[in-house]
Amino acid sequence: MGPARTVADVGIEALAVHVPRHYLDVGDLARANGVDPGKYCFGLGCRRMAVLAPDEDPVVLAVRAATALFERYDIDPASVGMVVVGTESGVDAAKPIATYVHRMAGLPRDCRTFDVQHACYGGTAGLRMATGWVLGGLRPGRKALVIATDVARYEIGSPGEPTQGAAAVAMLVGDEPRVLRLEPYAEAVHTEEVMDFWRPTYRATALADGHHSIECYLRALEGCWSGFTAESGLGLGAFDYLLYHSPFPKMAFKAHKRLYEVATNGGAGFDPDYERRVLPTLWSNTEVGNAYSASLYVSLAGLLEHSEVDAAGKRVGLFSYGSGCCAEFIAARVGDDASAWRGRTGLRQVLAARREITHESYLRFRQAHEELARDGSFRTPLAPEGVAFCGTWNHQRVYRDATWPAAVTSARPGDACPPSDVLRPASRPVRVQAGE
Ligand code: COA
Repeated sequence: MGPARTVADVGIEALAVHVPRHYLDVGDLARANGVDPGKYCFGLGCRRMAVLAPDEDPVVLAVRAATALFERYDIDPASVGMVVVGTESGVDAAKPIATYVHRMAGLPRDCRTFDVQHACYGGTAGLRMATGWVLGGLRPGRKALVIATDVARYEIGSPGEPTQGAAAVAMLVGDEPRVLRLEPYAEAVHTEEVMDFWRPTYRATALADGHHSIECYLRALEGCWSGFTAESGLGLGAFDYLLYHSPFPKMAFKAHKRLYEVATNGGAGFDPDYERRVLPTLWSNTEVGNAYSASLYVSLAGLLEHSEVDAAGKRVGLFSYGSGCCAEFIAARVGDDASAWRGRTGLRQVLAARREITHESYLRFRQAHEELARDGSFRTPLAPEGVAFCGTWNHQRVYRDATWPAAVTSARPGDACPPSDVLRPASRPVRVQAGE
């Protein structure tokens, strides 16, 4: 038997991002809402928000992030032994998104699949479970696939509307952490039952007590930091970069301000420190908006893909916050070899491929998703290419994927999607032989 592995031996081996193919300029939203754009753009730090087309949903984002991960890092899907999806945008109260990912990403049958929910903390919970599973060593050589996928939706005209967004980040977790190695410090976690943000199962949009939520976030940050610093003996100066969960970019500013005050006892020099250690982690968040459980990992991808930052070998602190609430602070080191990650997360490619839409189109796309929530026979127009959500048939969600028959894939974009019994042989009724 080999030596016992520590947390220092596990982490993220590969990371890939997928975002919706449309975005809305937040300034346009402000003008449509009759609000000074300065509030959304400078007050909250928002710039663009990713908007789901009718054929995109959290499942599609997750599958596309997973398949991008396999392609970009040349990973054999057969190496995956566990799929954990962190999400608060579940499309079904029973069937996990992980099962759709499992089928459409071509994963092996001897694989565990499940979703984890704890608001924006779900992705980090999945990451921690995955590292524990790898360390447990029951499946030597097998990797865990962790995907954070979310769509942030608030009521039209509500204070949360400009912070909306969506993204999925897929991470391969194993004992060759070339992207991010988690450091072996004791857990620094904070839980407290609070009512700061929630979405009852009968609602498509979230409810938030926004200012209370900011206070809960900051209290949890202080709680995690005091636990972390007491256990590790590390101060803020030990970190090259600090990544804070970003429901809107200004929140990271508020978080760093609070931590800086606590850690330096109100010392001077906050502004340059923020610009050096936090700002380089936020550019990708301003492109996609809030992606809930994926937001922290969108920041990580942004740091890795920053054109003026060499993150190789740098120590980063990640603060994950999920309303409700649970939070965690993690210390980690970026891999030394930048060729293992720079240009491979797909972040820049998916952002460059997007199209800007008008406020009217944003409202139309939104309405399509709202109709879906009301009507169990919803059907979307056919998407241009690749994995796509086609609608629901017989209360089942139907996706276009690589298993579609050729006759169907030759249909033109915009054609109505055919019903699922044509698309998915697995959903056809199975005749059971007598005696079976
Ligand atoms: N130009 C520039 N800045 C402006 C402005 C203008 N015309 N008008 C307002 N602002 C600033 C405010 O001063 C404030 O800045 P500050 O926080 O540094 O004081 C900021 O814009 C936001 O204004 P505020 O009035 O606080 O916004 P709001 O109450 O309408 O909504 C949230 C803000 C965060 C509460 C809201 O977006 C929300 O509920 N979000 C969802 C929940 C969430 O994200 N929680 C975070 C923790 S997970």
